Amino acid sequence: MTEIPAPLLDLCNEQIVHELHASHLYLSMAAYLNERGLYGCAEFMREQSEEEREHAMKFYDHLVDRDARVDIGALADTPSEWDSVQGVFREAYQHEQTVTDQIERIYDQAEEEGDRPLANMLDWFVDEQVEEERTFRRILGLFKFIDDDPAGLLEIDERLAERGEA
Ligand code: FEO
Repeated sequence: MTEIPAPLLDLCNEQIVHELHASHLYLSMAAYLNERGLYGCAEFMREQSEEEREHAMKFYDHLVDRDARVDIGALADTPSEWDSVQGVFREAYQHEQTVTDQIERIYDQAEEEGDRPLANMLDWFVDEQVEEERTFRRILGLFKFIDDDPAGLLEIDERLAERGEA
């Protein structure tokens, strides 16, 4: 099997950090939601955080399996305050859109370099990003109906307690 070309390897290592940052970000959001008594939303976000770590590990394992260098860089600062619960989910949705762009960039480069094993691995991420964006977009859609009504917020909280049933 061919070695991963250096620029592509750099992108993979950067993506490990992006996914770990997402994990931190979602855990911080979970803490914010817990503080406000929205335990369903908090649990949902905590599970998202765990999924992001798994995403980082998929890249990590791929590099290790190919005897490529893993280089974990520093994480970006993680916010701990948002203007509203809706603001939390808005930021999470925007974050997922950014991740989609990152994955597509790596995919394009993998195809350009003819790196089939990496492109194969990334197929999973392409599908995952469709699902992740859809999940957050649907949750945000629910906020449009409630118009700051606390009862509506509790309804969203109950839905998210059922994990992914938004
Ligand atoms: Fe790993 Fe939610 O993107």
